[in-house]
Amino acid sequence: DASDIEKGTYPHYMLKEIDEQPLVMRKIIQAYQDINGDLTIDSDIIQAMNEADRIYIVACGTSYHAGLVGKQMIEKLAEVPVEVHVASEMGYNMPLLSNKPLFIFISQSGETADSRAVLVKVKELGYKAITITNVPGSTLSREADYTLLLHAGPEIAVASTKAYTAQIAVLAILASVTGNKGDLDLVHELGIVANAMEVLCDSKEEFEKMAYEYFTLTRNAFFIGRALDYYVCLEGALKLKEISYIQAEGFAGGELKHGTIALIEDGTPIIALATQENVNWSIRGNVKEVVARGANPCIISMKGFETDEDRFVVPEVHELLTPLVSVVPLQLLAYYAALHRDCDVDKPRNLAKSVTVE
Ligand code: G6P
Repeated sequence: DASDIEKGTYPHYMLKEIDEQPLVMRKIIQAYQDINGDLTIDSDIIQAMNEADRIYIVACGTSYHAGLVGKQMIEKLAEVPVEVHVASEMGYNMPLLSNKPLFIFISQSGETADSRAVLVKVKELGYKAITITNVPGSTLSREADYTLLLHAGPEIAVASTKAYTAQIAVLAILASVTGNKGDLDLVHELGIVANAMEVLCDSKEEFEKMAYEYFTLTRNAFFIGRALDYYVCLEGALKLKEISYIQAEGFAGGELKHGTIALIEDGTPIIALATQENVNWSIRGNVKEVVARGANPCIISMKGFETDEDRFVVPEVHELLTPLVSVVPLQLLAYYAALHRDCDVDKPRNLAKSVTVE
């Protein structure tokens, strides 16, 4: 049928969509460039960003994880405080809002009921909202004041991959155009990201081996990281849960010892990300703590911060953009883990691509 044709030679949409990420990065750069090649965003959106005294990011699932990364980017580049909220919670428990709030809804589909419920409230209160979505004309796009598109092309696999990286790239552009930071050449840096993603997509055999090694027999897995790596760990754990049904959790490196370390047994896989210079040694310290309790460590680091103990080293990218590359190994590990366990990769049990009930 038609869907088989779209998949081309790929066995699954998820693998195709992972592979499309370098191209999506390049499409996003193009879509947001002006005739001089500079990144640009609708001036009304920039004005709304500049007028806000606080930004509220609202999303669910993978989009929420992209929002966490977006918070760091907006706070660092645009210097506006940001809160990130899970839509289903915010729907009945609106936090105390600042004087001039601006809302950013992140939704691949633009149809998620939990997010829409908050958007309806925000509009009733008379506040402005931006929707970041992959689907032009979607409900969240129509009902918000402004839309920023992901340009990722249709995402079919239930487990979101290219939409996540597209959301982060668009948030980076929004943050940098708002902040007008001359020292960050984002066009150049996103180009480096696209190349790095390509290198990772070309390393599939290695990730397949790693997935076999770490996830074939285990019933659980932990992902640890600090700073931006922590947020990527949340997403890596979600990917693994969604499609392989292995119980997985993402933790801040320093938090594991405050309880969850009790779950570490002989051979428990610990995937640790080490792409952040200022926490490189502390995350490695956390790995030692779990290894001392029998854990089976898998350190994925970034070029420049690697050591001999690392299982995989991703190419170097700008420190604010590391999630765009460090997530790719985790997506591929989840994919191959699911494959090895004979799971239905594109259509995992109990999940829907877009959830239109609250
Ligand atoms: C569903 C999907 C997730 C997705 C979430 C939010 O639960 O299974 O993959 O992250 O909805 O979807 P959205 O379209 O709002 O980004």
